[in-house]
Amino acid sequence: MDIKNLRLNYKKSTIDFENLIDSPIQLFINWFSDALKINKKEANACVLSTVSLDNFPSSRVVLLKDINVNGFTFFSNYQSSKAKDIDANPNVALNFYWPELERQVRITGTAKKIAINDSDTYFESRPRDSQMGAWLSDQSKVINLDYNFMDTLNSLQAKFKDKALTRPLHWGGYCIFPVKVEFWQGRPSRLHDRLVYEIDGKKWNKKRLAP
Ligand SMILES: Cc1cc2nc3c(=O)[nH]c(=O)nc-3n(C[C@H](O)[C@H](O)[C@H](O)COP(=O)(O)O)c2cc1C
Repeated sequence: MDIKNLRLNYKKSTIDFENLIDSPIQLFINWFSDALKINKKEANACVLSTVSLDNFPSSRVVLLKDINVNGFTFFSNYQSSKAKDIDANPNVALNFYWPELERQVRITGTAKKIAINDSDTYFESRPRDSQMGAWLSDQSKVINLDYNFMDTLNSLQAKFKDKALTRPLHWGGYCIFPVKVEFWQGRPSRLHDRLVYEIDGKKWNKKRLAP
């Protein structure tokens, strides 16, 4: 397979270094809004990286479900591999890549479980099938090759027939409180624009990085 010549000459936009926004969260919201206009379905897909107890990094896709002044929220199983990593080491990274915009955002921060009532509220808003999934899956556990989820699904459906499902305690949200956020805009000839925000107390310092 010859992939040596797979490359694009990026030219869709620039970062205006003369007029920078003070908050990386606000700039993220602006870029995310642009991404949503182009790719409504999966613009919130991002790669979450954690570090395991034996010091190996691990990455997987999650869906961003909230952005607020504190940071970036996703939901998961609190007993999954990623949750075990976060329990031992809350320092994580999130990576968004929006190819249609030739943009990448890299976030480094600390993950913390969100308030129980916020997890409840989000869980209640999920479609019933997704709620069932949260109940049914011991995420990241090894299961038999011939494991049949339909059997467990059918018995759960029968048990909760006509009843609301409450959030399982092993499932909820994490908020990533950012300490560093880098915005990358592809530019021609690989001379990309890179802007990094780093927290200094309550203030964000801005720096331009070489491509
Ligand atoms: C498009 C996409 C979206 C996903 N969204 C989530 C999510 O929001 N939360 C989650 O726990 N897993 C999500 N997953 C599954 C994870 O990538 C991963 O398989 C799972 O969380 C187990 O990871 P772990 O074993 O490292 O904990 C998603 C996968 C894909 C491909």
